[in-house]
Formats: sequence, structure tokens, C-alpha cells
Amino acid sequence: MMFAGKRVFVTGAATGIGRATAEYLAAEGAKVFGAGLDGEEGKVLASRYAESQLIFRESDLTREADVQAAVSAVNARFGGLDAVVNCAGIYPTGKRLEEVSDEDWEKTIAVNLTAIFRVCRATLPLLRAAGGGSVVNIASVHADATVPGVPAYAATKAAVVGLSRQMALDYAVDRIRVNAVLVGSVATRMTLDGLEAAGGAEALGLSFEPNRIARIANPSEIATAIGFLVSDASSFVTGSAMQVDGGLLARLL
Ligand SMILES: NC(=O)c1ccc[n+]([C@@H]2O[C@H](COP(=O)([O-])OP(=O)(O)OC[C@H]3O[C@@H](n4cnc5c(N)ncnc54)[C@H](O)[C@@H]3O)[C@@H](O)[C@H]2O)c1
Repeated sequence: MMFAGKRVFVTGAATGIGRATAEYLAAEGAKVFGAGLDGEEGKVLASRYAESQLIFRESDLTREADVQAAVSAVNARFGGLDAVVNCAGIYPTGKRLEEVSDEDWEKTIAVNLTAIFRVCRATLPLLRAAGGGSVVNIASVHADATVPGVPAYAATKAAVVGLSRQMALDYAVDRIRVNAVLVGSVATRMTLDGLEAAGGAEALGLSFEPNRIARIANPSEIATAIGFLVSDASSFVTGSAMQVDGGLLARLL
């Protein structure tokens, strides 16, 4: 039971990587509070667990009131918090910068960056009160290298890495570790929808062959890496941007 006694707040927990992370943490003994959109899927997830182990609360984390309500609820249910995993995100594709509307730009910043800022701002006092903790922010390989047509996404994911490093420095004094994860291609709705909207992998000039591990990841393979950063096994890891990408960024040509 790697996470016995740990209380973890997971955003985007109803689907994909967030869901796989919530399931992995709960299976290894954590108490998990999931927050995010996709309330029906969240309900189905929560129905499989005792309330003392995994709860899901439908929340639009671009709304400060929803962030506050979710963080108050986790504190009331679990009496504190030891870790935060920011998984919620969106992946708008297929537009060069001139084609991006103000509305689309602002929405991507709101979900992929400002929501992380707000969730961290609201949860840091709880982590400090617990004597320290771990924050894991899900970025992407797009922070370091990108594909055509995703300007807002690439910008937000690079910003998540910068924010994570900054937090690592500012909160080491409170024994709070902060790391980002540069995730490669994972078989979730986001990847499959994104590819479809862009006309498929071939239209984007993409092939999964260049991965050193030539396949798309299963969400559980990202969850176990996130789990390492949540766990005390990573007690000396902070300020890092950990690649979990099957070797994608390692390849030059
Ligand atoms: N799938 C990939 O290949 C891949 C690659 C790199 C990074 N990522 C990142 O992993 C994270 C999870 O994505 P995923 O692949 O599991 O896709 P997904 O679409 O299954 O998950 C995204 C989650 O974010 C939630 N969400 C979206 N807007 C929200 C909002 N306003 N408030 C609260 N929750 C909101 C959704 O409800 C959903 O549960 C994202 O940050 C994504 O950028 C994914």
C-alpha cells in the first residue's frame, strides 16, 4: 500500500490520465478526492468505491467558486491534504495563431494554466498544514517540442513547467515538492479527438513510429509515474520536468 494514509486531490479525475491516476492511488491505499467536468463519468467512478476512499465532485475549475468549494469539501471530508495532481486540460488543435479567436485562447489559458494556479493557491495552505506534500502538474511534450497548429496548448504546457519550477523554489521551505510531467501520446479521449479534428495523424504529418517505444501509452503507464512523484519514494525530487513519453523527446530525427 504505497499511498496508505495519503490524501490526494486529483483534477480531471473522471476520464483519461486523471481517472487512471485516481484509480491507481486508491488501489494503493490513498484517499482520493476527484474534481472535474464529466460528472456522469465521475459518478460512475466514485460509485465503485467507499466514500471514505474516493469521492468525485463535479467542478468547473476555471471558476474560482468551484475551486474554493472543492478544496473546502476535501478538507471537510479528509481533514487535510497531502498531495495535489493537476490533470485537467484541453487540447484545441488545427489552428495557426492567426486563426485562434480571443475566446479560444482565453479558454485554453483558463483550463490549462489558470486553473492550476488557482487549485495550487487554494491547496498550498492545506499541504503546509500537513507538514509538507507533493504537487504534480501535468504538462506535455509540447512544452519542449510541438506539432503544427496548437499554439495555445503549446504555450500553456510550457508555462506549466515554468510555474512548477517556480513553485518548487518558493515552497521548498514548506517541505512541499512540485514537479511537472511531460507526457507523450496517451490513449485517451483527448488524443483520439484531437487527431480526428486535425484530420488524422497522417494529415498532421505525425507518425507514432518515431517514439523510441513505438506505441501510444496506456493511461495507467502515466498514472504510475505520477504516483512516484506523489509518493515519498521521490522525496528528493522537486522542480523537475519528468518525461514520460516513450522516448519521443529523445529523438532528433
Ligand atoms: N492524452 C495525451 O496524449 C496527453 C499528452 C500530453 C499531455 N496530456 C495532458 O494530460 C491531461 C489529461 O488529459 P487526458 O489525455 O486524460 O484527456 P481527457 O480529455 O480524458 O481528460 C481531461 C480532463 O480534464 C477535465 N477538464 C476539462 N476542462 C475542465 C474544466 N474547465 N474544469 C475541470 N475539469 C476540466 C475533463 O473533464 C477531463 O476529465 C491534460 O492536462 C492533457 O493536456 C495528455
